[in-house]
Amino acid sequence: MRLQPSLILALLLFLTGCTVPGSGDDTYRPWVGQHGKDVMWVPTLDPLVLPMLEAAKVTADDVVYDLGSGDGKIPIWAARRFGVRAVGIEYNADLVALARRNVERAGVSDRVRMIHGDIFVEDFSSATVLTLFLGPELNQRLRPVITKMRPGTRVVSNLFDMGDWEPDRVVRLSDQNPLYLWIVPARVDGEWEVAGLPDWSTATLELRQTFQKVEGRLRSTDGRAASVLGRLDGSRLSFGYRSDKGETRTVAVDVRESEFIFELGRYLTAEAGIYVTRVISSKMSRGKAFFACDGGLHHHLAAAVTFGAALRTNFELCNLTRPGETAAVCNIAGPSCNPTDLLGVEITLPRLSEGDLIGVLRSGSYGFTASPLLFLGRPTPAELVRRRGEIVLGRRSRVMSEFN
Ligand SMILES: C[S@@+](CC[C@H](N)C(=O)[O-])C[C@H]1O[C@@H](n2cnc3c(N)ncnc32)[C@H](O)[C@@H]1O
Repeated sequence: MRLQPSLILALLLFLTGCTVPGSGDDTYRPWVGQHGKDVMWVPTLDPLVLPMLEAAKVTADDVVYDLGSGDGKIPIWAARRFGVRAVGIEYNADLVALARRNVERAGVSDRVRMIHGDIFVEDFSSATVLTLFLGPELNQRLRPVITKMRPGTRVVSNLFDMGDWEPDRVVRLSDQNPLYLWIVPARVDGEWEVAGLPDWSTATLELRQTFQKVEGRLRSTDGRAASVLGRLDGSRLSFGYRSDKGETRTVAVDVRESEFIFELGRYLTAEAGIYVTRVISSKMSRGKAFFACDGGLHHHLAAAVTFGAALRTNFELCNLTRPGETAAVCNIAGPSCNPTDLLGVEITLPRLSEGDLIGVLRSGSYGFTASPLLFLGRPTPAELVRRRGEIVLGRRSRVMSEFN
């Protein structure tokens, strides 16, 4: 027997007001149909949780987000079964508190986080898998955000579709409602210069994209043309066209956007990284303008005392607050009384005022080991790490033991 969505909803409404066995604890017991901000609480049925995660082909490397996470069952299952990191976003404070207790009881607090918030406000862009049990209107409202997520992100919705964004797969289990899977497609709309296609050494490929479907035209510099039909599976674009001999050719290319990965905490200087400090006071001394900042050698030894260089070379600095001001020669000092605490000596910068932010370019990432620890009473810094697409707290500020 296959249940229609309308029939399932009717059944759910029939259950409205009932508590669900196994859901809730002595502190709080939610009931089916209780008010939620944009949609009521109805838990995903147990036999559907695993198929949802399996439809998304979840692996331990994924970051699973459940939007409108209720009592947290999907993130908890995902962490227990697949060892993933999982996050739930839920608006109802009682459900969030219950979900957090459930996380503790399931022993997955190191991997599961419950955010008390609104799915239309919270950032879930680091998800590689999204699970939804919301409703057709909410799915449609989320669609513009979801389609901008990283190509290849898998989205599984229990029961509800996404309007004219056709699913990449529908899972139908007997006696259960359908599960829909979408894979966020890369954005390929537009004109591409392509080389190396069979029969077309170089050509212009014009693509029009409707979600994962593409159609378009190939044009060569010598005036040949062919129509193109294709499909995206995340960032993998496959398309077909007819060769000059009338044969159908199919091509698959990866259109993944470039991704830069930096190793954090190892390099003290690099092409990238801007150290930002604020001007806290200014003075004229022997005809020279000095601006003292709240950052100096206690943060950025390399820029302040050009650590490791025989002769001083100023790092490149800029006035981040007022880049358009008239240029003037100045000296930028750190806050200590040490005469070497100078970020810039006789440099030309757009005129500075107290409160302005100065950027020290090419600072690389923060080098803890080259920082005079606790110098000037500065607390140890918090360190953030980008791990599997998510920003996580690596070390807390002011907790010395985390630096051992
Ligand atoms: C149908 S239940 C699904 C619960 C859970 N995902 C599951 O599958 O068991 C929808 C949940 O979304 C929550 N919700 C409704 N509007 C929300 C919003 N704007 N932001 C966050 N949560 C919301 C409700 O409180 C409810 O717990």
